Amino acid sequence: MNDQPDTAVVEMLVELACRAPSVHNSQPWRWIYSEHVLDLYTDSSRVLGAIDPTERQMVMSCGAALDHLQKAAAANRWTTEIDLLPTPGAPDHLARVRFVHDAHPRSHEFDLLTAINRRYSDRRAFGPVPSNRDLTRYLGQEHYGTEMTVLSTESKETLAKASTLSASVRKYDATYQAEIRWWAGHAFRSGGIPPEALTNRADASRVQVGRVFPEPHRVAATVTHEPVEDESTVVLLETSSDERLDWLQSGRAMSAFLLAATADGLATCPLTHMTEQSGSRRLVESLAARTGVAQVLIRVGKPMIGSPPPRTPRHAVASVLSAPARATNRRRS
Ligand SMILES: Cc1cc2nc3c(=O)[nH]c(=O)nc-3n(C[C@H](O)[C@H](O)[C@H](O)COP(=O)(O)O)c2cc1C
Repeated sequence: MNDQPDTAVVEMLVELACRAPSVHNSQPWRWIYSEHVLDLYTDSSRVLGAIDPTERQMVMSCGAALDHLQKAAAANRWTTEIDLLPTPGAPDHLARVRFVHDAHPRSHEFDLLTAINRRYSDRRAFGPVPSNRDLTRYLGQEHYGTEMTVLSTESKETLAKASTLSASVRKYDATYQAEIRWWAGHAFRSGGIPPEALTNRADASRVQVGRVFPEPHRVAATVTHEPVEDESTVVLLETSSDERLDWLQSGRAMSAFLLAATADGLATCPLTHMTEQSGSRRLVESLAARTGVAQVLIRVGKPMIGSPPPRTPRHAVASVLSAPARATNRRRS
């Protein structure tokens, strides 16, 4: 048995990693596999200058991809050894991954692998999290240095205020509006949020804490059956500081939560509009018992009845991964 993954295996793992959520499906990552080492970089050509000027959400998105990679590798019997921000002075170099072929996956690892393919950002109303689910267990040992708070139902009012505040600040921000219209609601071939993944105004109004997206011309039909009002729970991930490493780690923790929740049959949607500006961010932070920096909120609940929207597209793996050519084994005819 090979003790290092060949190019075909790395392509498969990177393809699964790239199913990770990313801010507005910008997929801001680049991977290089060389001499048995897989390096993860940000792709600065995909930064969202108005929405994410500090690159915080770009780095979080890459953190989510890194956690997806680890989960995919574990289910395929590869343990990953990861150095974060391995090159001083090169902030775009986010991680260096080495593989050891010694993992013994258990059924939970296979559930998480399945969750990679099943998870999607669901922007519709959710039913309540069933009482037998314990959200505090979803991060397991993998808090990645973040603190998670399951916000109370009473917090919803403050969250709705923070959401409205963020929308009103953005309403007359022409650069933000142009950027969100570029990324969301029309058909790109392999990036951005397709119209089918957005909700129409009636469905969006049921969720009082969602980001305001431009209403696309073509969206899934209004779902009129239960739940009519959103009864989701919102969890908050915070870090102790607001540096690149915190962003990377919160992306990994977000991914770990999303995959565990998906594996447990729950619907999820990351939310960051309330953490993009100081006013709404402070309101969000006031909801946690500790003093921390709010990175991301995740709405989680029982999925709505009905079929999920089509999967959001991803760039072809060949366009984000540079790796040695695959060995060809074809016989000449
Ligand atoms: C850092 C980050 C921030 C995000 N912020 C939001 C948000 O504010 N509102 C939202 O509806 N989705 C948000 N998303 C979800 C992305 O839009 C989604 O992951 C992307 O469109 C890919 O779709 P998928 O998650 O269905 O695969 C965010 C995702 C990430 C990683």
